[in-house]
Amino acid sequence: MVVSLKKIPLLIILASLCVLSSCYFDKEDLLYPTNCISANDVKGPKFTEVESLIKSSCNGCHLNGGNDGGYNFDGFCSIVNSWNAIYNSCVIRSDMPPGSPLNANQKQMITDWVNAGHRYTD
Ligand code: HEC
Repeated sequence: MVVSLKKIPLLIILASLCVLSSCYFDKEDLLYPTNCISANDVKGPKFTEVESLIKSSCNGCHLNGGNDGGYNFDGFCSIVNSWNAIYNSCVIRSDMPPGSPLNANQKQMITDWVNAGHRYTD
C-alpha cells in the first residue's frame, strides 16, 4: 500500500485515538469483573436493600453456586456488575423470579438503587 507522506500525521492521530479509546477506564468492569469496589468503599443503604432482596428472592437458582441463565449473585460484585440484567428482568419484564414477580415495593428498591448509580456504595 502506498501512503502519501501528507497523510501520515492523520494516520498517527487516528491510530492514537484507537489506542486511547480502547484503554479508556470505563472498560475496567469488563476486564476485571470482580473489581467493583475500592479499599475505603462502604456498602451503601440502597445496595444493602437490593442485596438482601436478592438473597431472599433469588435463592435456589442464582445463589449458593446456582447459575441459572448464566447469572450467579453470591458475590456483591456480581450483583453490581449485573445491575442492568437485574433491572430488566425484575422491573421491566417482571419475569424474575419466574412465576412470582417482585411486588411494587421490591421493584422500587431496585429502581432506586439503579437511579442512584447502581454502585456498591449507593
Ligand atoms: C426458580 C428459579 C429462579 C429464581 C428464584 C430466579 N431466577 Fe433468574 N433465572 C432463572 C432461570 C431458569 C433463568 C434462565 C431463563 C432464561 O434464560 O430464559 C434465569 C435468568 C435470569 C437472568 C438473565 C435474564 C436475561 O436477560 O438473560 C437474570 C438477570 C435473573 N435471572 C435474575 C434473577 C433475579 C434478580 C432473581 C431474584 C429476584 C431471580 N432471577 C430469581 C431462574 C430463577
